[in-house]
Amino acid sequence: MGRLQDKVAIITGAANGIGLEAAVTFVKEGAKVVLADFDVEAGKKSEQELTSQGYDVVFEQVNVANRESVDHLVEQAVNRFGGIDILVNNAGITRDAMLSKMTVDQFKQVIDVNLTGVFHCTQAVLPQLIERGKGKVINTSSVSGTYGNMGQSNYAAAKAGLIGLTKTWAKELGRKNVNVNAVAPGFTNTAMVETVPDHVIEALVKQVPMGRLGEPSDIAKAYLYLASDDSDYVNGHVLHVDGGIMM
Ligand code: CAA
Ligand code: NAI
Repeated sequence: MGRLQDKVAIITGAANGIGLEAAVTFVKEGAKVVLADFDVEAGKKSEQELTSQGYDVVFEQVNVANRESVDHLVEQAVNRFGGIDILVNNAGITRDAMLSKMTVDQFKQVIDVNLTGVFHCTQAVLPQLIERGKGKVINTSSVSGTYGNMGQSNYAAAKAGLIGLTKTWAKELGRKNVNVNAVAPGFTNTAMVETVPDHVIEALVKQVPMGRLGEPSDIAKAYLYLASDDSDYVNGHVLHVDGGIMM
């Protein structure tokens, strides 16, 4: 028996990076996974790879910033798998610029995807979790949301906002047996950090007691814990998976 045997999980942003690694981790533990992502090409490729290995996954294109698109995703997931047990709100974008240069569009785009998108997905999935009598919601925050980061006013605001949502929903939904927690990754080796100048990365790594960037698997294992029965009494928690960068 896997740790997520026969559970149905929607993972947003699962076509690439941390989300894809989480999907691989979840299916190996017996879950059925909806790979929900904007990126059709990568999503279809990931679906094909996992399906060819005998795992029960499906790709659904979604723009988490768009409510109709999210409602459609949930409908498709329920049609395919009969319900939903786990939601991982992992999709995210950056539009970095210093405050003096950030455009209103850059600010809004990041809030729409990284904050409002999580509101859309959780609100749309919630009735399904309640119907199952048990559910898990995992929100992906960031070291930038908990401690701030130069060049990320929009992103830090959204990721800090997710902590407010996490704690509020933990209070609202605990009585429905739905746990809501957040993972706050440090800088992790995916396409997202490729935009960061090399000298900034070098300086950051020097601040990490573990002496390296995070790997997607470091974060996926934290998602697994919070998605599994092992964390049934963990609620409203922000799990920092950052090698101890900020202490
Ligand atoms: N931490 C520390 N110093 C930083 C920094 C950071 N994150 N970002 C920029 N700086 C420093 C630069 O080294 C530079 O210092 P000097 O003047 O001493 O050379 C100064 O700030 C100004 O930076 P730029 O010259 O690069 O200014 P710019 O206007 O051309 O570009 C920027 C600004 C777009 C923000 C660019 O610096 C940048 O991309 N910085 C990295 C931002 C970053 O860390 N993003 C994280 C992406 S990964 C992610 O988001 C995942 C997550 O959750 C952590
Ligand atoms: P990534 O860029 O590799 O993957 C993000 C995925 O989200 C992509 O597949 C992208 O297509 C998808 N996505 C973007 N906008 C979307 C939308 N509107 N609707 C649906 N899907 C959308 O990035 P990574 O690193 O895997 O990021 C995953 C999560 O982890 C994000 O929320 C990110 O903010 C967070 N994070 C990442 C860190 C890092 O250093 N890589 C550090 C801390 C947090």
